[in-house]
Amino acid sequence: MDVIAVDDPTDAQIRQWHSVLLAVHADDPADDPVPEPEQTAARLLGAEQGSRQRLWAALEDGEMTAVAALRLPGAPGADRPAEIDIQVRPDRRRHGLGSALLHHAAEGLRADRRSSVIAQVSAATPAVPFLESHGFECVLTLKGLLLHLSDVPPGRVKELIAAGPVGYDLVHWQGAVPDEYALALARAKHAMADMQAYEGVPWDADRVREMAEMVNKRGDALYTVAAVQGTTVAGFTEVVVSADDPYRAAQYDTAVVPEHRGRRLGIWVKAAMLDWLSRERPEVREIETDNAGDNVHMLAVNEELGYRRQRETREYQASASVLP
Ligand SMILES: CC(C)(COP(=O)(O)OP(=O)(O)OC[C@H]1O[C@@H](n2cnc3c(N)ncnc32)[C@H](O)[C@@H]1OP(=O)(O)O)[C@@H](O)C(=O)NCCC(=O)NCCS
Repeated sequence: MDVIAVDDPTDAQIRQWHSVLLAVHADDPADDPVPEPEQTAARLLGAEQGSRQRLWAALEDGEMTAVAALRLPGAPGADRPAEIDIQVRPDRRRHGLGSALLHHAAEGLRADRRSSVIAQVSAATPAVPFLESHGFECVLTLKGLLLHLSDVPPGRVKELIAAGPVGYDLVHWQGAVPDEYALALARAKHAMADMQAYEGVPWDADRVREMAEMVNKRGDALYTVAAVQGTTVAGFTEVVVSADDPYRAAQYDTAVVPEHRGRRLGIWVKAAMLDWLSRERPEVREIETDNAGDNVHMLAVNEELGYRRQRETREYQASASVLP
């Protein structure tokens, strides 16, 4: 087996990479959409905005049987963890391919002067013993939830909107935040204390706009609903409808600023989002979301709206020094 760097992938390498992803998906579809060749090509040919990436592939008898992508957010040496994703063809597992790729990625990590790396994986899959055997530790457990819009009883959304607290208004926008709310939205994002502590990067108006721009560049659409008092954002929720799979939207951030909590603003903005999406994007049939396992309030809001629990995702982290 050889491991090669795929820093400038050729068309043939992109096709081979895609066939590894298809084989992995076929073995464990986990309710995820089948990867599309254009998606794979786009990911391999360009890193997300604000990030660089390194790619490696394992070849056996000239055939690509396993792949690894290391995402490096920010500049070299940035104080942010890199992200690793390794995929091994199901029929080639337990032969050390995953470990060999991890070894190359660890060297790439150190060459970029990163102190740690994270991986997001499904619980109850081989990824868990694999990562744990290499010194990774679980730092976050996320419960996957899915809402089938057809399961929401008729009238329920209107009822929740009508029951909204006095003294707040609902506003919504698509894409980048309007200037008058940009600073206030960044402040509200601070309310997501758990994530912020974890990512270690503070939100400001520019970063909020950058995130919207990134979604837009991918061809996806970002929808935001906020509960406001004047230009103060008390709470907000974001949903992204992707160009690849417009039937299943993804919940992004939802937060209520601490001094406005306990007034059912969370469920109010989420109900208003369902109402707006049903008019704006009637093709959306499902919304998926992840909640931190210990975020009992958000889990309760989502379950009241009709979300059902699905898979569990775990975030693993390892410091560069413990990796092979
Ligand atoms: C997780 C994955 C990458 C492991 O790849 P692999 O090539 O099979 O891993 P390795 O052969 O290098 O395994 C190294 C060690 O990990 C542990 N391990 C790996 N798979 C395991 C399993 N199914 N059960 C128990 N232990 C396992 C073992 O300790 C193994 O050493 P051993 O075979 O000597 O006992 C592969 O199963 C995969 O592609 N899964 C789907 C995609 C995924 O979840 N990727 C994780 C993202 S980082």
